[in-house]
Amino acid sequence: FATLRQSGQSGAPLYLQLRRSIEDAVRRGLIGPGDALPSERDIATKAEISRVTVRKAVQDLVKGGILVQRHGSGTFVAPRMERVEQSLSRLTSFTEDMARRGMAVRSQWLDRGLYAPSPDEMMVLGLAASELVARVARLRIADDTPLAIERASLSARVLPDPAGIGSSLYAALEATGNRPVRAVQRISAANLGEGDARLLDVAPGAAGLRIERISYLASGKVIEFTRSVYRGDAYDFVAELRLGI
Ligand code: GLP
Repeated sequence: FATLRQSGQSGAPLYLQLRRSIEDAVRRGLIGPGDALPSERDIATKAEISRVTVRKAVQDLVKGGILVQRHGSGTFVAPRMERVEQSLSRLTSFTEDMARRGMAVRSQWLDRGLYAPSPDEMMVLGLAASELVARVARLRIADDTPLAIERASLSARVLPDPAGIGSSLYAALEATGNRPVRAVQRISAANLGEGDARLLDVAPGAAGLRIERISYLASGKVIEFTRSVYRGDAYDFVAELRLGI
């Protein structure tokens, strides 16, 4: 903070200079995840700037996810998020994936109901216009971190009561002998729109991975058509490749 005082002539607003010097200290590892920041008053005194300026810089960094504020105990460098490494060679469910990592899973419901199918759903699920589609849309949260928004569509014949699936779609399908055994998954890049970004607790426009999964029963029948967005800062998809053409 003393350097801030010395380099105070650079022209940029003071709060921006302070923000940059804190960002720099985090980047260079001078302060690490979980470390406490000195109090606003201490920073203000050391850098010879007003507390309002300090607060503005700190609030910017909290918004940007660099710092976290805990009520009553102060301001800390945000914990670095562990990226989830997800194998692309096994057909597993979100609940299974997270449980294997020892993470606590929960979901926030965004939609669950029976609807007239969209043209996409009719085509992929092989539904007639007169049939209904069951939609199950959830924000998937692991260890209190929102990781993905998943919007699954299934035939209402397979899932007549989408509200009754409990915490795992695949467990519910398994219970009726409809667990998929094969899937085709397409992953593409996306910038998160405002609504999705808010749900995933990241800035609008942040990087996301759009994932479309069409999964099949052993009979070859399509059972699930799911369109998801995963947080780009949280996921690595990993596939094993073998020599061949
Ligand atoms: C994965 C897949 C989804 C699938 C979901 C089921 O995340 N990307 O296509 O619907 O798992 O998860 P669960 O059984 O936890 O509801």
